[in-house]
Amino acid sequence: MKIDGKEYRTIWYEDDLVKIIDQTKLPHQFIIKDLKTVKDAINAIKIMEVRGAPLIGGTAAYGMAMAVKENKDPNFIKKSSEDLIQSRPTAINLKWAVDRMLNRLAEVNNSEVLNTALREAKNICDEDEKFCENIGLNGLKIIEKIYNKKKDTVNILTHCNAGWLATINWGTATSPIYHAHKKGIPVHVWVDETRPRNQGANLTSYELNEEGVANTIIADNTGGILMQRGDVDMCIVGTDRTLSTGDVCNKIGTYLKALAAHDNKIPFYVALPSSTIDWDVKNFKDIPIEERNSEELSHIEGIDENDDLKKVLIYPKKSKALNLAFDVTPAKYITGLITEKGISEASSDALKKMFRK
Ligand code: MRU
Repeated sequence: MKIDGKEYRTIWYEDDLVKIIDQTKLPHQFIIKDLKTVKDAINAIKIMEVRGAPLIGGTAAYGMAMAVKENKDPNFIKKSSEDLIQSRPTAINLKWAVDRMLNRLAEVNNSEVLNTALREAKNICDEDEKFCENIGLNGLKIIEKIYNKKKDTVNILTHCNAGWLATINWGTATSPIYHAHKKGIPVHVWVDETRPRNQGANLTSYELNEEGVANTIIADNTGGILMQRGDVDMCIVGTDRTLSTGDVCNKIGTYLKALAAHDNKIPFYVALPSSTIDWDVKNFKDIPIEERNSEELSHIEGIDENDDLKKVLIYPKKSKALNLAFDVTPAKYITGLITEKGISEASSDALKKMFRK
């Protein structure tokens, strides 16, 4: 998708280096960064220069390729894969991508291993782009249906950034929106700010602006009253891990939005590529929920009057803060899962039927 009128993907390989857009600097600075080593990839995931489940997977895949480039010793590759998997705990795409790389590498001999690793990392990214495009085409049908009935702007609420910046391209939650916009259907997006890292304000609103999609940032607690007033036609969010039961783990606050949508009879959809499905964990309480540094709550970053980036403390110095990064929305509150294969009910029978697992 576009930034300043130029097409980008979120990660690519050029001049023997992995390139990423440093998302910690958006929306105020646009900086392309090189990842030269597997440590660089691990660090980029940890400090959220890259974030969003599919992009974390793509970065982990290229991280594995960088590991192979550094040292072909199987012990080094194994240790690198373990360190990558531990860099963030919740998004299942990370382990999925690392396991896929390990399996592919096990099939080839030493002379082919680097080319194979680079090719497989690119395949993972290309596949994600295609999946996200198909999610968009499937989700478009829902938006079209609402528009054909309403004959007026479709108001869609989203939480966090499940846009193209969180994937390789298109996004998951935003892909149906981009497809509707390209088709000329009037859409407007309510963008949850998404404290504490403000992925909604800093990333979703930014990327929608760059594509010319109408959007308004709202404080995270505003969705409820907008729903009560009839100003939200549907919600679409992303997911970091979807259980085979249909329960969905996503950015903290998603659950409360689903409750409000349920109370107001507003359709609540979750968009995901199948790489986000965890077929092993059955009970949502067993999903590891990332707890991040409380400084992400107590401090905030922005630009001052000279456009210089500044970080300031906003809490009382003596106060403690708890920063849980994700929560789980039970399947019963989810209207449907928008996947690359179609729209599935959020249930184990429907998911199994769609993905034949
Ligand atoms: O902490 P983040 O920014 O990595 O969290 C991202 C989300 O919660 C997204 O909604 C999710 O990864 C889906 S991305 C298509």
